[in-house]
Amino acid sequence: MYEFIQDLPKVELHLHIEGSLEPELLFELAKRNQIDLPFESPELLRKAYDFQDLQSFLDIYYQGANALRTDQDFYDLTWAYLQRCKADNVIHTEIFFDPQTHTERGVSFDTVINGIYRAMQDGEREFGITSQIIACFLRHLTEDSAFETFTSINTHKDKIIGVGLDSSERDHPPEKFARVFQHAKQAGFLTVAHAGEEGSAQNIVDAIDMLSVSRVDHGVRCVEDQALVKSLINSQMPLTVCPLSNIKLRVFDEMHQHNIVELLRQGVAVTINSDDPAYFGGYMTDNFVAVSEAHPMTKQELAQFTLNAINASFINETLKANYR
Ligand code: HPA
Ligand code: ZN
Repeated sequence: MYEFIQDLPKVELHLHIEGSLEPELLFELAKRNQIDLPFESPELLRKAYDFQDLQSFLDIYYQGANALRTDQDFYDLTWAYLQRCKADNVIHTEIFFDPQTHTERGVSFDTVINGIYRAMQDGEREFGITSQIIACFLRHLTEDSAFETFTSINTHKDKIIGVGLDSSERDHPPEKFARVFQHAKQAGFLTVAHAGEEGSAQNIVDAIDMLSVSRVDHGVRCVEDQALVKSLINSQMPLTVCPLSNIKLRVFDEMHQHNIVELLRQGVAVTINSDDPAYFGGYMTDNFVAVSEAHPMTKQELAQFTLNAINASFINETLKANYR
């Protein structure tokens, strides 16, 4: 089954580019930018990746992002991720980035987007991997800060297909961003949001109703509301599920308790994604393998994850038909 998974074309819809920063590259960037790290080696840093919950991960993830300073740093980060995509037969990827994580510490929006975008263009030319960018608002920051960030997003409309919402879900419900999302929609951006990862099923309902999302990121806590599960099946609202992330952040204790395969069999439009692969122990193939080892599946079921992801992607209909 490993070979089937490895060869299966894959589409990634939930990947934070800052979360693909491997310890080795982090050390290289720290040296390049003369930043002191509180760890002796990449190996020791990797050993410290032991998380209790979402917040304990985010604290370390934002620290890691601090090593990213120049256009070239963002290029190298994105290029390294695209090489992993090639190795895993990922044919299309939609990449999140967190503008505020960088602008808040004095790195300009242009520096970040230009580095990421340049690598994506090279990825398409050299590997044939198509990609899109989604800019996420940090939900622990204010609505004003999101609006300010949206001004920059809007000046890069040629490179950015949509806006998203990430960071601490508890205490920062979708409602806080209803106005900025409405604004983004009106300006022609598609919308997605993290919901139902650590937060309640109600956050999923609210992301759909108040933020008009095209996909829900994570969404695994939908099972706490059976009426919601029914409506997700009827509407074929995609969920971008991240299995290894959910184990590392203790959303589920063990992979055999994960609900993704049960949701697939019920007809929910679930997809498999890597979230923050450098921190959670694996890229796309690793996520597929981890799920299939804990939940034996047919090849057709495994391929359904890719079909769901193609349908849920933001690529145009002609290219979608090609990928199917
Ligand atoms: N959840 C919320 N915010 C995030 C995540 C996540 O899984 N990864 C990076 N930012
Ligand atoms: Zn995420």
